[in-house]
Amino acid sequence: MSYPYQIKSLEDYHKTYAESIAHPEKFWFDIAEHFQWKKAPSSLDDSLNWNFKEPKVEWFKGAKLNITENCLDRHLEKDANTPAIIWEPNDPEEHYRILSYKELHFKVMQFANVLKNNGIKKGDRVCIYMGMVPELAIAVLACARIGAIHSVIFGGFSAQSIADRLVDAHAEFIITQDGAHRGNKEIPLKNVIDDALMQCPFVKRVIVLTHNRMPVSMIKGRDTWWETEIKKVETQGNPICPAEEMDAEDPLFILYTSGSTGKPKGVVHTCGGYMIYTNYTFVNIFQYQKGEVHFCTADIGWITGHSYILYGPLSAGATSLMFEGIPTWPDAGRFWQIVDKFNVNILYTAPTALRSLIAFGDAPLEGKKLDSLRVLGTVGEPINEEAWNWYYEKIGKKKCPIVDTWWQTETGGCLISNIAGITPHKAAYATLPLPGVQVLLVDENGKAVKGSDSTIGLPEETVQGNLCLKFPWPGIIRTTYNDHERCRQAYFSTYENLYFTGDGCSRDTEGNYRITGRVDDVLNVSGHRIGTAEVENAINMYVDVVESAVVGYPHDIKGQGIYAYVILNNEVNDEALTKQDILQTVTRIIGAIAKPDKIQFVKGLPKTRSGKIMRRILRKIAEGETSNLGDTTTLLDPAVVEEILAGKM
Ligand code: WTA
Repeated sequence: MSYPYQIKSLEDYHKTYAESIAHPEKFWFDIAEHFQWKKAPSSLDDSLNWNFKEPKVEWFKGAKLNITENCLDRHLEKDANTPAIIWEPNDPEEHYRILSYKELHFKVMQFANVLKNNGIKKGDRVCIYMGMVPELAIAVLACARIGAIHSVIFGGFSAQSIADRLVDAHAEFIITQDGAHRGNKEIPLKNVIDDALMQCPFVKRVIVLTHNRMPVSMIKGRDTWWETEIKKVETQGNPICPAEEMDAEDPLFILYTSGSTGKPKGVVHTCGGYMIYTNYTFVNIFQYQKGEVHFCTADIGWITGHSYILYGPLSAGATSLMFEGIPTWPDAGRFWQIVDKFNVNILYTAPTALRSLIAFGDAPLEGKKLDSLRVLGTVGEPINEEAWNWYYEKIGKKKCPIVDTWWQTETGGCLISNIAGITPHKAAYATLPLPGVQVLLVDENGKAVKGSDSTIGLPEETVQGNLCLKFPWPGIIRTTYNDHERCRQAYFSTYENLYFTGDGCSRDTEGNYRITGRVDDVLNVSGHRIGTAEVENAINMYVDVVESAVVGYPHDIKGQGIYAYVILNNEVNDEALTKQDILQTVTRIIGAIAKPDKIQFVKGLPKTRSGKIMRRILRKIAEGETSNLGDTTTLLDPAVVEEILAGKM
């Protein structure tokens, strides 16, 4: 079975796109009819209020809903026994779990009552720091059920990063677990939370799920076991938790993400627009058919997991597979074993995961059928042609379209992507904008690049520019938590009346967009966004560091690696040990994902006379360039470049 708003053919795509551009309000108003509202959007005239100056974007303000009624309750009539979540544990020997819509609905209501018992109410911020277990999905949806704002933090972030986020969101409640399994490692999540909480005395309650049962500290009055709380609810004997009435524009969640300056920002998404957009893009891009198994390999700590493991699939009544482990354990055939085990139809993963698997050769594919696969997808970073071809030939057996989905934490869902089997794929291209998405490329001065506007015509030759959006779609970021000005600065101030993505992009003569990578000081390491300024701040916290500069360089597996140029004071005797210490410091301050791959100690950094670091030169050196470093005449001391080149690793 399909969905009435699924695009059916190439012609249908062009027609739908044209309509969505000509009458965006009407287009989304019509889509909104396919959802369950407590009070439906009333009139087309006020379905959208917007300007990119402040910025202000409101879709269907005044309409009321609860996203969990759309993700759970409304499927009970026809799909009560349909699997909502299939959970595959880290250890393939351990039994998998299946939660039907009925079971998930029950457990979400039960845990929502736990949240209420613990004093959590609509609008409160709840931090969730868990591994990829079904209870993570339950916790997220339970927050949404009662209108609490969830903020999921990826399990790889350090105590300091968590503390920064807790303070920023003033989150008084935490849901975590003793520890997580990850390959052959045990990750001590509760321990990390305990460290974070030393800085956050305002936290009132920590609910701890038992999972791997590693030893944890439990503080009376503050910490409580998940299971104990469930028992209390059972004793109270009320299995129902009514869904809180939310305005379409009430916040649903905060998700922190890195930018080119300062600490990570809390991207805020709202209930109505985000729901409509994740559902629409899920159903269309993957051409999901009822009964199929969708396997998105992302972690729910990132936006991809929010949108395409949870809210998109569940709002569509789909079956979403959630995997606790990693692609290379117990061996590099794990994804393929899972695909065969559950007859996965849609596989959505990151180029970095593919590249790490390609490195193991074809042996892990032996004996794997992979014949259930119908659609393949990638997300998170540009995919190189070699990885694309391997995915297409070895995994999809040349039968499965690959959707290359370009989007961001801030966009809520995919904006540029081909539609599986409907619009053509093209290796390394995200291809065409989805309905409602108005793309424009601009030059450095903000001038529109001729032929780059997706709403008018095609270019005569391939054109290039900075990727912007001209018009709001329902899933666009509404604000950065508690700091609206930061949202304006980061996304809406670079170019007038445009949302600026921070990405570079080209458009070919057929209208296909190709993302070329970030044009700002943001790195994309293994598909994770990391700001160079953040890494520099962490390095600079090390006692013997005077100054540092961080740039990205091409990395075979990670896409980008982190290269740090560091100036030390005169106190250091053992440089090798100091490198280790610096890595440990970065791990403490941000998390292991931000550890530099290379550290080069230097005596000076190339600076302009006004004291600005010339990153362009450092980037070129990190990329292996030795001669064509561009104009160095404006440097305060051109000799430092020679010194850096001489000491290059
Ligand atoms: C990059 C992840 C090329 C891009 C959903 C963007 C991509 C950043 C693609 C957002 C793609 C994401 N092709 N680059 N298909 N998808 N990116 O917020 O640079 O973690 O700005 O969201 O990843 O990263 P984020």
